Amino acid sequence: MLTVAIAKGGLLKDSIRLLQSIGLDFSAFLESGNRQLQIIDPNHRARALLVRNSDVPVYVEYGQAQLGIVGYDVLRETSANVSQLVDLRFGHCRMSVAVKANSGYRSPIELPLHGRVASKFVHCAREYFQNLDLPVEIVPLYGSVELGPITGMSEAIVDLVATGNTLRENGLIEIDVLFQSTARLIAHPLSYRLNTYGLHSYVEEIREKVKPLVESR
Ligand code: PRP
Repeated sequence: MLTVAIAKGGLLKDSIRLLQSIGLDFSAFLESGNRQLQIIDPNHRARALLVRNSDVPVYVEYGQAQLGIVGYDVLRETSANVSQLVDLRFGHCRMSVAVKANSGYRSPIELPLHGRVASKFVHCAREYFQNLDLPVEIVPLYGSVELGPITGMSEAIVDLVATGNTLRENGLIEIDVLFQSTARLIAHPLSYRLNTYGLHSYVEEIREKVKPLVESR
């Protein structure tokens, strides 16, 4: 049976809405009190796995899910061997460098050599500072990275910004943007090549649903 890996968190509602629009109903994941981690749609056409954002590419790379919906930020961070098929145009955010507003730093190259940068996105942060030829120590964290500069542990952070509220409410400002991110439809490369479970038709249906959104801009 076709299996789709979908991410818990911010992308969940839009992912479920998109799949619903092509006749796959996994809305049970949104019911309060739901603890199920896999659901088969009522028409028995497909199964969905509910996993952490960063685990979506893992299930797809290993072929347990033929399709997945995940943020581009996660794909940049994990560099998993998956096929990126469609930009789904929801889940807009950006990966940014931020510092304390009162720090005086207004550009990443003003940061001190061998300073510290806290991030959940260690790979992205390391690559970015390497490209700037600025040696910094990346401090890996799992959340609330804004506390890095607030507590004085780091001079800067590399983190996702969506509304900007978290930065504002914690007295931080962005000084550069690494890249923009949106949700992407990904596939297991061999399954896509072999059209396993007829997945091409699902991909085309999704592409068609996303297209009007693009054209109406
Ligand atoms: C993400 C990100 C920022 C926040 C940005 O954190 O790491 O902290 O969202 O969103 P905003 O610009 O709309 O305020 P998340 O909610 O995933 O929590 P975490 O820091 O505990 O990982």
